Amino acid sequence: MSRVGRRVLQAVLLGIGLTVAGYVAWQWIRVLQFYLGPSEASLSETGFDWDAAQNGQLPNTYPFAPSYPFWSDGARKDRYIHIPPGTRIDTTEPDRWNFPEGTRIWKVFERDGVLVETRMLYKHGPEPWAWDMAVYQPDGETGASRKLALAKENVSGTAHDIPAPSDCVTCHSSGEQRRPLGVTAIQLPWSNQDSLSIQDLTGMDLLTNSPDRPFDIPGDDLTRAALGYLHSNCGSCHYEGSTFVTDKVPLFMNLTAGTLADVQATEVYRTAIGHEPHLPGLGTEVYINPGAPDDSFAWRRMSIRDDGGWQMPPLATEVVDREGVALIEQWILGLEDPD
Ligand code: HEC
Ligand code: HEC
Repeated sequence: MSRVGRRVLQAVLLGIGLTVAGYVAWQWIRVLQFYLGPSEASLSETGFDWDAAQNGQLPNTYPFAPSYPFWSDGARKDRYIHIPPGTRIDTTEPDRWNFPEGTRIWKVFERDGVLVETRMLYKHGPEPWAWDMAVYQPDGETGASRKLALAKENVSGTAHDIPAPSDCVTCHSSGEQRRPLGVTAIQLPWSNQDSLSIQDLTGMDLLTNSPDRPFDIPGDDLTRAALGYLHSNCGSCHYEGSTFVTDKVPLFMNLTAGTLADVQATEVYRTAIGHEPHLPGLGTEVYINPGAPDDSFAWRRMSIRDDGGWQMPPLATEVVDREGVALIEQWILGLEDPD
C-alpha cells in the first residue's frame, strides 16, 4: 500500500474509532443523567409505600386510572399521584397542565401477581419541563425497591422487561418538554366513584382553571374507544413535532383539546384514514384503509411483534394486544371511504 493510501486508511480508522467512542460516551451520559438525577436512590425515600397507598393512608395522595390505558403485555398497573398541600395544578392550557413543584406520580407494575417494578415521575422544579423519571425494582432479599440505571429483562421470574430509564423520554417528552401522559384533561375521567376525576380535582380546589365541560372524544362508542386507544398507545410518539418519530412520518394519532369538535377534526381522521405512508411496507398502501384492516399499515404493524422492525409500539411490549387489535379491526371495518 502506498504511503498516501496508508494515511487515508489511518484517518478513516481514526474517524470510525472516534465515532464509536463518541456514541458509547453519549449512551453513558444518558444512563448517568437518569441515574444521578434528583429522584432518590430507594423507593421508600420518595415517600411511597404501596400498602399505605392502597389503604388511603398517604397524605395528599390519590389513586387514579387513565380512561385509555397503555398496553403493557397484560401487566396490572396501579397509579397514585401526590400533590403537595397548598398547591394547585396550573390548568390554563388544557393540553399542557403544569404541576406544582414536589408533585410525584407512581405507577406500580404487577405481572402474573408478582410486583415487578414501580415507576415514578417527580416534578423537582417549577418549570413545566422539570420532571425527573425513575424506575425502582424490588430486591428479592430485602424487599426494598432500588433505583435502576439500566434496562432489565425477564425480572422476578416473569416475562416482564423493565425499560431503560433513558427510554422513558421517548414517550414522556414532547419536543424538549417532559410530561405525564395519564393525568391529563383527556385521559382523566370527568366523574368517577373509584378513582380521581376532574370533578374531584375541582372539588378539592386543585386546579387553577376548572373546566366547565368534559373533554369528550367525538363519535359513537366504538369510534371513541378506537380514538382513545390510539391516543394512549400510539399518540405518545405519533404527534406533530415529535422528535422521536420525526416529521418525515406524517402520521399523528394523539388527541388534543382543540381537536374534539367532531371526528373529522381529530388527527387520526386528518392524517391516517386514506393517507399514504412515508415508507410503505407489508404490501399496504395506506395507514388506515376504510373497510380493509388487512390493507391498513397501522393495523398491520400493531398486530406484529418481531425483530424485523415492524412491530408497533417499537418498545415496552413483546405480546400483541389481542383486544386492542380486535377493537381497531372492528372500527376499521365500520369506516366509510372518505370522499
Ligand atoms: C412506550 C411508551 C412509554 C414508555 C417507554 C414509558 N411510558 Fe410511562 N406511560 C405511558 C403512557 C401512555 C402512560 C399513560 C397511560 C397508562 O398509564 O396506562 C404512562 C404513564 C406513566 C405514569 C403515570 C403518570 C402518567 O403519566 O399518567 C408514570 C409514573 C410513568 N408512566 C413513568 C414512566 C417511567 C419512569 C418510564 C421509564 C422507565 C416510562 N413511564 C416509560 C407511556 C410510556
Ligand atoms: C415509542 C414510540 C412509538 C409508539 C408508542 C408507536 N410508534 Fe409507530 N413509529 C415509531 C417510530 C420511531 C416510527 C418510524 C420508524 C419505523 O417506521 O419503524 C414509527 C412508524 C410507524 C408507522 C410507519 C409510518 C410510515 O409512514 O412509514 C406506522 C404505520 C406506525 N408507526 C403505527 C403505529 C401504531 C398503530 C401505534 C400504536 C399501536 C404506534 N405506531 C405506536 C414510534 C412509535
